[in-house]
Amino acid sequence: MEIDLPKFCFLEDTFVPWEEAKVPVSTHALHYGTAVFAGLRGYWNEEEHQLYVFRIRDHFERLHDSVRIIFIDLKYSVDELIDITKELLRKNEFKCDVYIRPLAFKSVGPKIVGMDITTVPNSFLMFALGFGEYLPLSGGLHVCTSTWRRIPDVCIPARGKISGAYANSCLAKSEATLSGFNDAVFLTEDGYVSEGSAMNLFIVRKGTIITTPVYADILEGITRRTLMQVARDLGIPVEMRPIHRSELYVSDEIFFCGTGVQLAPVTKVDHREVKNQEMPVTKRIQKTYFDIVRGKNEKYRNWLTPIYE
Ligand SMILES: Cc1ncc(COP(=O)(O)O)c(C=O)c1O
Repeated sequence: MEIDLPKFCFLEDTFVPWEEAKVPVSTHALHYGTAVFAGLRGYWNEEEHQLYVFRIRDHFERLHDSVRIIFIDLKYSVDELIDITKELLRKNEFKCDVYIRPLAFKSVGPKIVGMDITTVPNSFLMFALGFGEYLPLSGGLHVCTSTWRRIPDVCIPARGKISGAYANSCLAKSEATLSGFNDAVFLTEDGYVSEGSAMNLFIVRKGTIITTPVYADILEGITRRTLMQVARDLGIPVEMRPIHRSELYVSDEIFFCGTGVQLAPVTKVDHREVKNQEMPVTKRIQKTYFDIVRGKNEKYRNWLTPIYE
């Protein structure tokens, strides 16, 4: 797949041409995964000729929470990060849907080899790319339960969006695709459903949407939080509670959600068809979600940040 490369990247306080955005080979984060990241989406609204970034403040607040966990000093405030994002998108003149990737990372320390990160300097970059679907949104996904377990909070906290922890996600996702599935569902150490390889999960049972709790070693997803609120506003009951693997097999509907995946119906789990292939609840929430992110639902306009003046 050909990807249109962006013109500019933000690196170390300045906007640099994409080809010149480089880091040293001794960068600590490259060796040890000592970085945290965020993933945001911007949606192009053709009628208004406007690019809207979804819940930008929430993403940067979570980035600030993440850096606290792993001793990274992020020198930009949330407001400054919002300004950098706006300028980055404007400089690249995006007129399409985009994915935005900020990364706060440990750069080159006094010792090249060493695990004490408190003395390693901090660095920051951000870039954005034109971006479409991460996983198919229609047609339904066939997923498997991963043979890998979700990395527990006592090892590397999933809520931290810590780069190194994503090796766990890569193992699960790669195994799933090699075995012919679209993605994988992680179980926790004690055998409860956690989340997808890089997305949260909901099941639907008798009209109620149910998602796994924060103590199931999940990332506290912003889309998850969004959908819980939207569902309640639509009059759909919401529960947050532990889910067994076998409950996936008896659910009426299942869907994944996250900034990357957006809201994608799962139609098959471990070779078992999900009961209601029509997905009425999932589709209702999905439609509302896409109207919201594209600026077509006035009620939730405050979640959108317009980029062009
Ligand atoms: C492990 C993991 N879970 C869940 C999500 C969903 O989070 P959000 O909705 O904030 O993008 C992501 C990121 O997209 C993720 O990497």
